[in-house]
Amino acid sequence: MAVSEPSVGGNNAITPTVYLDGEFMPPTKATISPLDRGFIFGDGIYEVVPVFNGRPFRLVHHLRRLRHSLAAVGIDSPIGDTDWHRILQRLVDDNGAGDQYLYLQITRGIAPRDHVFPVDTKPTVFAYAQPTVYAEPTATVEGVSTITTEDIRWQRCDIKSTSLLAAVMLRQQAAEKGSVETLLVRNGLITEGAASNVFMVVASNLITPPTGAYILAGITRELILELAKRHNIPATERDIEEKELAAASEIWIASSTQEIKPVTTVDGSPVGAGTPGPVFTRLLALYQEYKRAFCEGRVD
Ligand code: PDD
Repeated sequence: MAVSEPSVGGNNAITPTVYLDGEFMPPTKATISPLDRGFIFGDGIYEVVPVFNGRPFRLVHHLRRLRHSLAAVGIDSPIGDTDWHRILQRLVDDNGAGDQYLYLQITRGIAPRDHVFPVDTKPTVFAYAQPTVYAEPTATVEGVSTITTEDIRWQRCDIKSTSLLAAVMLRQQAAEKGSVETLLVRNGLITEGAASNVFMVVASNLITPPTGAYILAGITRELILELAKRHNIPATERDIEEKELAAASEIWIASSTQEIKPVTTVDGSPVGAGTPGPVFTRLLALYQEYKRAFCEGRVD
């Protein structure tokens, strides 16, 4: 079934507080210069962190990836991890705790337009939290439809860059076909989704492509592999050829906002039996249990 379900961020959701350059303020008071390189060049990096029961999930992992992205593009981190914890928790608390997601973005800052990095420019730091909106019936139960297309993005997909035009165009292609995600193909291999990582199951083995220049090191992906390992579900990181998808009994997508979703069609053809498979059901149960433990403070 074609499910066009935003799992996060209802249009009516208005956050009372955003963080901009050292201050908390209502969103209407937050202004950023049009000369900011984030606006002019898309010269910035970002993170999206899920929040469950008022606690940012896997925050340490997200902050580690944030540091990787900043270092990769040569922006000096203006905020340390301890301050990030404080800032993000304040945003979550101001926004009524519960389930949310945090968005944070750091750009190279304001400078006259020149491709070359400016000297001594202060990075712009912006963050906000938005409530999660869960749709019914959930795509997690029913599965989602996807399309495949050529991966037209760049060769530094390990960087979580705000320059997302290619991803936006690719994801739009899926939306126009009533699908939830676009699975990307580069040189005959599946890389990832436009905004998610991809898994497939063949002969009860869970398989996902290795991260690197063409694939973001997804935090949800990492957790899935961690859970699989801990619970003896056979899992392998190896290339996936596009033509293998037709023989997969299950395909999933995973991200901080989608969590884990079973893919039930690819380009209109059913995946396996066309319903969520047994490995997905098992892994989802483990993921939900991990989340429960997190919400109850039993895991960090
Ligand atoms: N995107 N690959 C790409 C290209 C992504 O944009 C994302 C997430 C992922 C999954 O990463 P994680 O599990 O850490 O969320 C993989 C976020 C959610 C976004 O851009 O909104």
